[in-house]
Amino acid sequence: MRTLLIDQIGMLVTNDPQGPAPPTGRDEWALGVRTDAAIVVEGGRIAWLGPAGTAPAADQRHDAGGGTVLPGFVDSHAHLVFAGDRSAEFAARMAGQPYAAGGIRSTVTATRAASDDQLRAVAAGLVAELVRSGTTTFEIKSGYGLTVADEQRACRIAAEFTDEVTLLGAHVVPAEYAADRTGYLDLLTGPMFDACQPYARWVDVFCDRGAFDAVETHVLLEQAATAGMGLRVHANQLGPGPGVALAVAHGAASADHCTHLSDTDVGVLADSSTVATLLPGAEFGTRSTYPDARRLLDAGATVALATDCNPGTSFTTSMPLCIALAVREMRMTVAEALGAATVGGARALRRDDVGRITVGGSADLVALAAPSYVHLAYRPGVDLISAVWWAGQRARPGPGGHGAGLERDHG
Ligand code: NIG
Ligand code: FE
Repeated sequence: MRTLLIDQIGMLVTNDPQGPAPPTGRDEWALGVRTDAAIVVEGGRIAWLGPAGTAPAADQRHDAGGGTVLPGFVDSHAHLVFAGDRSAEFAARMAGQPYAAGGIRSTVTATRAASDDQLRAVAAGLVAELVRSGTTTFEIKSGYGLTVADEQRACRIAAEFTDEVTLLGAHVVPAEYAADRTGYLDLLTGPMFDACQPYARWVDVFCDRGAFDAVETHVLLEQAATAGMGLRVHANQLGPGPGVALAVAHGAASADHCTHLSDTDVGVLADSSTVATLLPGAEFGTRSTYPDARRLLDAGATVALATDCNPGTSFTTSMPLCIALAVREMRMTVAEALGAATVGGARALRRDDVGRITVGGSADLVALAAPSYVHLAYRPGVDLISAVWWAGQRARPGPGGHGAGLERDHG
């Protein structure tokens, strides 16, 4: 098996802290920052990590040119299987129209009318964008089909790209069931669960005004857990509500959005294993107030950052953008934001094999043409990513960005 040595790394972020937490500089300790390290990759895994001066010989060499190397981003929340365009809705919103959950139905109409190949092409294009911007683990939700056949098709296509597939049949009640919500819930928890379970690991419920209420969400989560599926909840995005409390009560892996939280919501999240996943792209795309990450972090909650890539509220695949927004608008430190976008996302997917750089772990790596991870927030909107390795395979042939000319592949 061929081996690859990555050296001349100016700063390596491992998310693998060594030794006890220091009295100061805890942020960088938590990121497991090393300044003297090199990495050897073999067969998709990290085979060796240690001081550059003691690195073993390898078949190939990548000279990181003094730049930063990070774990690949983990995007735990994305809606990538859809058709149609909602740029006019975005433009109208920027001209003063409010966002309403009902916009989802226009994407449902376009998605139902699309062929499998059209949906696959949209998803493939967005996955390519994700990987180009440094994401190596990502979740994909259904939720724009809302019939048994269309949700199954979305989950099947999503499963061509990732193991982290989520059935979001509970996105909204489709128009044809408007007068029979119970009928839709029965369809969802019966034939739709059965049809999608071979492809989907997770079930998600949009618990908010215009979508599903507390009683409906409770029933859906209970039935999904009984069916053996993992739970995720779109919670407290559009206003205060019961979503976060229900997510925690049902042991969901993640409560997503968390924009409008009461003190009780913050307390129950902090005392739980449910990750608070913040999606600043959605506040950006709807010109809404950002969630207060500082309040969650100070209370002791685990926070993840994700893109929420979808055609309605957040049409971005860029985790670096989300990091920059979280730092500027949500009172996170740069280190906290980077941790939330990597190991935080892994926790939201209940994965301990991604989001960190450790010997034996998957070689999911991002190289930045910048001397420090801080540049992710310090240089917003600038593409600093010069290389991406996905399970050891070079997924983005750099170089690009400032200083990248220093980087070289040898061998
Ligand atoms: O996460 N909140 C629910 N779903 C998406 C929006 C979907 C849409 O408007 O198409 C979200 O923001
Ligand atoms: Fe979403």
